[in-house]
Amino acid sequence: MNQTSLKDVLTDPFGRTIKSLRISITNRCNLNCIYCHHEGDTDSQGEMSVETISNIVHAAIDYGVNRVKFSGGEPLLRKDFEEILLSLPKLKDVSATTNGILLKERAHSLKEAGLDRVNISLDTLDPEKYHYITNSNGKMFEKVLEGIHSAVDVGLTPVKLNMVLLKGLTDIEIDDMLEFTSEYKGQVILQLIELMDFNDVSSYQIDADLIEKNLNLRADEVRIRSMHRRKKYIINGTEVEFVRPVDNTEFCANCNRLRVTADGKLKPCLLVNDNLVDASGASLEEMPELLKLAVSRRIPYCRK
Ligand code: 5AD
Repeated sequence: MNQTSLKDVLTDPFGRTIKSLRISITNRCNLNCIYCHHEGDTDSQGEMSVETISNIVHAAIDYGVNRVKFSGGEPLLRKDFEEILLSLPKLKDVSATTNGILLKERAHSLKEAGLDRVNISLDTLDPEKYHYITNSNGKMFEKVLEGIHSAVDVGLTPVKLNMVLLKGLTDIEIDDMLEFTSEYKGQVILQLIELMDFNDVSSYQIDADLIEKNLNLRADEVRIRSMHRRKKYIINGTEVEFVRPVDNTEFCANCNRLRVTADGKLKPCLLVNDNLVDASGASLEEMPELLKLAVSRRIPYCRK
């Protein structure tokens, strides 16, 4: 199929063309973070088969989608994640968001199976804070650090560190995290994330404007990413991105991703739950209509 033909493009009623899929492959997680938004899905029953995932992606690439991000829960809890990756068509970018705990053992096989890069969630460099935020204990923090090393080692790069900013808890560690990131000499990017208030965590909300002002002052260079119009700061040679999803009309206006829940429902928006389209068990032939239906239901959550 000719990917440049307009009729083949998945464009929503607000003119936003879908370019990427964010696919949750499990709701299970080995952590329990205080702020977790569960990718907007706490209802999923069961998990999609490899075939359903493969069908969704194969159908979507005919419409110009060329990026896929896998998430969870914790995606590495699926023992068949490699099998899922091997079932995919050729894509421009295949990534996963992981907490990194199981990454050391899997990094190599995931890379071999076609994973290009990973985002690793790490909000703090203090083990005690880490265990508080993630409701975990023991060796979890150490395992994440090992996971980051392994990801860099096998070339799941650039590794992005997802750091959720929590007022008084992690926002005071931005400098430490920058230093940690810079040790990887360009292989690791720091991604600061504004907290979205799930689970009543508003007391941890930061002043994003203030933080952005500080980054601006210190940056040698500032670039704008087309995706969500995110700002990217270069500070002492290290890349820092700031993701601001809260009350951000630009964020929604530039959103080009369609979500898929763990149990195979196409999900037009993280924050909306009454417009899902069930694609579990659908054949490759049935998929285009389901994709178009989901895309037709996309409405920017924040608009002017
Ligand atoms: N606010 C912002 N980001 C969140 N994440 C999960 N819950 C929230 C929230 N409430 C993001 C984190 C984590 C990824 C899996 O999801 O960046 O790394």
